[in-house]
Amino acid sequence: RRTAILISGRGSNMAALIAAAQAPDYPAEIALVLSNRADAGGLALARSAGIATATVESRSFKGDRAGFEAAMQAVLDQKGIDLIALAGFMRVLTPGFVAAWEGRMVNIHPSLLPAFPGLDTHARALAAGVRLHGCTVHRVSASVDEGPILAQAAIPVLVGDTEASLAARVLEQEHRLYPAALAWVAAGRTDPPEARGALANPLP
Ligand code: GRF
Repeated sequence: RRTAILISGRGSNMAALIAAAQAPDYPAEIALVLSNRADAGGLALARSAGIATATVESRSFKGDRAGFEAAMQAVLDQKGIDLIALAGFMRVLTPGFVAAWEGRMVNIHPSLLPAFPGLDTHARALAAGVRLHGCTVHRVSASVDEGPILAQAAIPVLVGDTEASLAARVLEQEHRLYPAALAWVAAGRTDPPEARGALANPLP
């Protein structure tokens, strides 16, 4: 399946997906990395991995979300994309765009949804005093961070954890979880991913 990864920043999840997709039997081909910011660090990483990149600057659309998305859709069409993986993509998508990609767009979020949708998840997890934290891969629906959950990985919150230490341990899990979950979606599977060993949750 021809897959586009949408990014806004450093692109470490993107890099993990690109690396996994190099395996000959991986069911998704990363055919495009699309950024809404020309200064996203992930663009250079993608180029050095030999992946086609494109930028549609959201800033230049000045709040015209439909116009921004139409420009993205044109690039996606031109590249023959049929699956989207959001990886640190920081724009909210309109219900129209989400509907057009229903069943074909996934996202990774740095918390155990439905806890802590939105931003600053690690600081909020610490402030709330949760003992377990982690990341979630979910299908994208029109409400932000609320689509059906495909896979999760959990880690314990340790005494002395800071926002940075927690973020680093969750990110490690993101890089493990996202390639496995994207493979599951790209292969068109419908059995619950939790039943698969590849997505088993490795609590240390
Ligand atoms: C990740 O924590 C991702 O879950 C969140 O934004 C961060 C992006 O990091 N949505 P990166 O660009 O993949 O390194």
